[in-house]
Amino acid sequence: MSDWISQAASEAWQRLAPMQQTRFSAAEWAEFSARAETKWEQLFRLLHLLYGWRYDFAWSLNEILDVAATGYLERRKPHRRVDREPRGEFLKDQSTLWAMTYLDLYAGNAQKLPDRLDHLQSLGITHLHLLPPYAVPEGANDGGYAVSDYRRLRPDLGTTKQLRRSVDKLRIEGVGVVLDLVCNHTAADHTWARAALDGDPQFADFYYFFPDRTLPDQLSPHLRPIFPDRGGDAFTWLPEKKLWVWTTFHSYQWDLNYRNPRVLAAVAGEMLYLANLGVAAIRMDATPFLWKEPGTSCENRPEAHFVLQILRLIADLACPSVVFLSEAIVHPDDVASYVNPAECELGYNPLLMTSVWDALATEDVRFLVTALRERFALPSGCHWLTYLRSHDDIGWGFADEDALQMGVDPRLHRRYLNGFYSGAFPGSFARGELFQHHQQTGDARISGALASLAGLESALSDIDPAATDLAVDRIIAAFAVIIFAGGIPLLMIGDEVGSLSDHSYRADPLLAADNRWSHRHRFSAEAFDQATLGIGPEGRVLAALQALLELRRSLPPLGQPRTVPTGHRGTLGFDNGPITVLVNLSQSVAILEPAPAARDLLRNEDWQNNVLAPYEFRILANPGFG
Ligand code: GLC
Repeated sequence: MSDWISQAASEAWQRLAPMQQTRFSAAEWAEFSARAETKWEQLFRLLHLLYGWRYDFAWSLNEILDVAATGYLERRKPHRRVDREPRGEFLKDQSTLWAMTYLDLYAGNAQKLPDRLDHLQSLGITHLHLLPPYAVPEGANDGGYAVSDYRRLRPDLGTTKQLRRSVDKLRIEGVGVVLDLVCNHTAADHTWARAALDGDPQFADFYYFFPDRTLPDQLSPHLRPIFPDRGGDAFTWLPEKKLWVWTTFHSYQWDLNYRNPRVLAAVAGEMLYLANLGVAAIRMDATPFLWKEPGTSCENRPEAHFVLQILRLIADLACPSVVFLSEAIVHPDDVASYVNPAECELGYNPLLMTSVWDALATEDVRFLVTALRERFALPSGCHWLTYLRSHDDIGWGFADEDALQMGVDPRLHRRYLNGFYSGAFPGSFARGELFQHHQQTGDARISGALASLAGLESALSDIDPAATDLAVDRIIAAFAVIIFAGGIPLLMIGDEVGSLSDHSYRADPLLAADNRWSHRHRFSAEAFDQATLGIGPEGRVLAALQALLELRRSLPPLGQPRTVPTGHRGTLGFDNGPITVLVNLSQSVAILEPAPAARDLLRNEDWQNNVLAPYEFRILANPGFG
């Protein structure tokens, strides 16, 4: 494409590049400028779109280039080597398996992380997302998502140097570490926030401050309350400064103002710092909220995509091998919109996750079929993380229009699911809790561990062996869906042994108000060793999960699932490359449509029966395979 902007981009490069070149050796400059050759014009275009109108645009360009150059120069040799290979080859690999955990709950601290290699390897985990281990304010910190400083760890977790060493050790053993860039906000005590309040003009526009309620009152009616429990709206009063500040999440998480190009440059600098710790991927937190536009919901604005694209291009210059993961818990169309080669090649699939829970509650797989048939496709080279539980709550994020098409009232259905999973619905097997219950709208989400939501907690407390067996089978059937659907499976550590919800957080005044802590498991090496004996519910869950993962590793690449009718409302059927999966997600015996005999790959036997017991599933070889 050759137009005036292409010309302008090239002129800008001619002027700015020599100032950077002096910092590089000849070989380094050859590499960096070769990357710029393919990326600079697009970067220029996007920056011009967002900031071209500003008097200081040229200065911003220079600052962004400077950040990218610094990121490149600070990159260590082994990572520079990986950067020369095509990015994300591992995404296509059937043995790729992600897991997530808190560093302290899993290993104690950064230094001790490699002690968990045995555990990671026994499951075949190739990527480990450590929930934010960074310095946080004293007091509440939203599970680490209020970051005071990316370049310091929470003191009890050790130092970044120790973390870097552990990241290196894990990498050598085949486990890539993933860290968060909480790009929508910082903690109220981040240096940028302090400087802004102290009147430092460089930081004056880093956040959205308002002298009175005029603008907040205009903005508020359009905004979705994300944490309604906190009361008020998305704006927080700072009495000492007599200012309001925009805080979409908690009052101590201040939204960054990306209308200011300095914010983008500063965030990019932190991103490259994390990349240079040696991580394999960066999780982009809360992507939909990055850009605010008065009169709108301030979610999923086109400019939020431009911000991500700019960050991707900066990473392409400095650390191209680092993969981006998008975290967007919004309408399914919007969730998917962040997962593309120009933004994030990986995205969580919350729709598949909630649809599995939906099917288990309703014993009807219609939502699940829609999630796989209509809403699973992604651009080439991009992948979903498929999961059942994360550190967050479960919000029923199906599209209202999908529900209406099935003749389901979306509002009532969400209410039913909340009733079911909080255990309030008569006959429910689940023992979760409502999270952020909004008194006016009745909206709520669900907290609780996988095993507790799937009925193991109630079965064990009722000392009911039949219900216990059923709950274990339910857990395993749910795992079968996310392991073979075609994305990259993601485990919440603790769920591999069916850990129940843990309510000890209630004794900690800082955590008590946030029941998401009930499913953020503390790892126990003893409990895990015990489970490897294969005894009891924990042992059965672990053994079955390992068998499923092993089978997955042995298969040629899975891709886009094609749902197949099963003739039973509670049984999901899909065909994915070499396999056809039939999963009965209901408590009743399923009589399926007759089908030709096929090889059951898990049990290694021929299967021609058309009956599935409750929660029974079959992974069948397609003709020509197995
Ligand atoms: C993401 C995180 C969640 C956090 C929120 C605000 O959704 O997963 O834990 O509360 O962002 O940072």
